[in-house]
Amino acid sequence: MRLENKKILLIIGGGISAYKSLDLIRLLQKKGSSVKVVLTKSGKKFVTSLSVSSLSKNRVFEEMFDEKNKGKIDHISLSRWADLILVLPTTANFMSKLSKGGADDLASTIILASNKEVFLVPAMNVRMWLHKATQKNLNVLISYGYKFIGPEDGEMACGEYGKGKMSSPRQILSFLEKFFRKKDLLKKKKISAIVTTGPTKEYIDPVRFISNESSGKQGYEIALELSRLGIKTTLISGPTKLTYSSDVKVKEVVSGKEMFEAVKKKLPTHIAVCTAAVSDFKPLSIKKNKIKKDSKITEIKIEKNPDILGYLGKNNRYKPKLLVGFAAETEDLIKNSIKKMQEKFCDIIVANDISNKEIGFNSDLNEVTIVDKSGKTQKIKKSSKKFIASLIAEKIVDTFLLNEKSLN
Ligand code: C5P
Repeated sequence: MRLENKKILLIIGGGISAYKSLDLIRLLQKKGSSVKVVLTKSGKKFVTSLSVSSLSKNRVFEEMFDEKNKGKIDHISLSRWADLILVLPTTANFMSKLSKGGADDLASTIILASNKEVFLVPAMNVRMWLHKATQKNLNVLISYGYKFIGPEDGEMACGEYGKGKMSSPRQILSFLEKFFRKKDLLKKKKISAIVTTGPTKEYIDPVRFISNESSGKQGYEIALELSRLGIKTTLISGPTKLTYSSDVKVKEVVSGKEMFEAVKKKLPTHIAVCTAAVSDFKPLSIKKNKIKKDSKITEIKIEKNPDILGYLGKNNRYKPKLLVGFAAETEDLIKNSIKKMQEKFCDIIVANDISNKEIGFNSDLNEVTIVDKSGKTQKIKKSSKKFIASLIAEKIVDTFLLNEKSLN
């Protein structure tokens, strides 16, 4: 069922493990998937085009500019056709090329132009895998949103032992089955989510306002990840400098009150993730005209903004099935975050240590601990907000599906 009718675009790279791709094609075919194959120039040194086309029952794509295929742009049509792109084996050289955004052949161009999930299956000598350059490329690729299957520990073709061995076709198959099972389940359940992000601007007069440094990046990345997983997601964003992709629906707001109204309009929703740094206070009234320098004003009366997360947690009628809050703390990170989770009736809280200036607000990096209601913690050390978003989204989806299962 899980792999039936799935369209897999398999890119065969140039490594000794390329021969295993033939077995994988056979396994995928058996499960009912359609497989199209791109054979790289170096991949061709290990498997032949004839064996690949015979097994995949499709023509094999090799050239960027194919004379026989006039009028069709393969690097676009292949990526749009696929449900998922798999690169097997992914060599150290290919990782290096992708990390720089290289596009000098059909395989790398497809990946650069892709709007699909890309899974890289590395295979290389242990020294090559552990080399600082490869590890640096790995982090860059993770930050771009590429997913990795393996590598495993084991004996390599060169006789050395260690990390770098390619996952077996059966391991890859089981990984893909899990991936599609989750995706299909989410699609069937037609799940919706809202994510709040960014700062809010609370105007004092037409030109002055109360706000904060939040960039909105973390929330935006979470919204992207949830949509990618097939969840109908709306990002409700305060004013940011982000360029939003069309992959996620965005409702832009300015003040905390507007954000609150926009959230209420989206209820009921299955999942709500509140990452926004809503200004705690707002001026009691906004002056119609700019306050003059020589005016006699001595104070600005303020009042509290609505607590959106608090409202959702206490909402008897429309409480989301899964509520996620963020806690920015400078001390006693976990203890204070758990307290916040309980006070605001959240199911998950993402604890953010803001005492470290290198991460968090306005940075591309973050370091968080995900805490759930059972007290289980998952610390994610300093990494890109995109990578952190993928782990938060995974936790959200797994918890949501688990809760649903226990209710049924
Ligand atoms: O209470 P505190 O502001 O520290 O809580 C942080 C959490 O509450 C975050 O998830 C934030 O998005 C949410 N929040 C909110 N509305 C507010 C203030 C905070 O949704 N007015």
